[in-house]
Amino acid sequence: MRCVITGGAGFLGSHLSDLILQQDHEVLVLDALITGSRANIAHLLSHPGFTFRECDVRHPLQVDGPVDIVFNLASPASPPVYSRRRVECLLINSLGVHHAARLALDTGARLVQASTSEVYGDPLHHPQVETDWGNVNPVGERSCYDEGKRYGEALLTALRLEEGLNSGIVRIFNTYGPRMHPYDGRVISGFIRQALTGEPLTVFGDGSQTRSFCYVSDLVRGLWLMGTSDHPGPVNLGNPQEHTILQMAHYIRALTGSESPIVHEPLPADDPARRRPQISRAKEVLGWEPVVGLEEGLQHVIDWQRRTLGATKQPA
Ligand SMILES: NC(=O)c1ccc[n+]([C@@H]2O[C@H](COP(=O)([O-])OP(=O)(O)OC[C@H]3O[C@@H](n4cnc5c(N)ncnc54)[C@H](O)[C@@H]3O)[C@@H](O)[C@H]2O)c1
Repeated sequence: MRCVITGGAGFLGSHLSDLILQQDHEVLVLDALITGSRANIAHLLSHPGFTFRECDVRHPLQVDGPVDIVFNLASPASPPVYSRRRVECLLINSLGVHHAARLALDTGARLVQASTSEVYGDPLHHPQVETDWGNVNPVGERSCYDEGKRYGEALLTALRLEEGLNSGIVRIFNTYGPRMHPYDGRVISGFIRQALTGEPLTVFGDGSQTRSFCYVSDLVRGLWLMGTSDHPGPVNLGNPQEHTILQMAHYIRALTGSESPIVHEPLPADDPARRRPQISRAKEVLGWEPVVGLEEGLQHVIDWQRRTLGATKQPA
């Protein structure tokens, strides 16, 4: 098979490329290198099945030759990043989704859309089930991302109904692993960086808000299974083990042997109080569930940051 991955030079996309190439399929990555980097795919550039093209999904996508699956991952993904690029975020999640879907329609490919648990907003039900419609503030701090992703889901639904697009929507919950940018504001990579450099670990609010963290190898296996299924979704992909943010800070301090203090800062606006996926649909339709435990996954990130942190720059 030949797969196109938009956003493939980012955290999830580079791991998905690894997985697909390991199975002897071909990968074409289309990425504008906004939050992703050549470093994430440097080990793949000489692979005969791998091609990289720098391009922006806000413009129509032209790909010669057959395409079997388009994985649409291009989007800013962390609050500090999309808060600096709000209009861009909305355009990527509208025009960009449209262009990825057009590529899939033109080539007869399946399209997998990386949606997010953020479509549930500050959830009214716990754990979050795909039948929840969400509780999102359309004029809030996070609306460029949350509503952008919700629009993407609506657009794909319309194209599915009107033009027969073979689309599959996955709602990804917090995922972590090596190559997640240590400075992009996401909690696990941020805590580990702070612990390793002796900086204080920044906990927003009192840290009683919860998240559920999925290791990247589990997550990209779920993306691949969605690519090879014909289920329209939405399907939650995430690890149902729930932790408070304060527990995570203490755990990462202990695993790294760090003496960094924990400091508290005000909770950002519209920060969801709880996040935990109900994954029975993923089990049923994809035969998927996560298998990597938290300690093992965190240790991989700690080892990776220990090796690479010295050479990592803060994103613009
Ligand atoms: N990692 C998570 O926990 C998580 C959770 C929910 C949803 N997601 C979704 O998964 C996808 C990948 O997230 P990630 O964690 O790998 O983030 P990431 O920032 O590492 O990767 C996103 C990639 O998209 C690229 N990109 C951004 N704008 C682009 C544009 N206009 N044209 C082409 N490429 C562009 C970036 O350069 C980057 O390589 C995103 O759509 C994100 O919303 C991720």
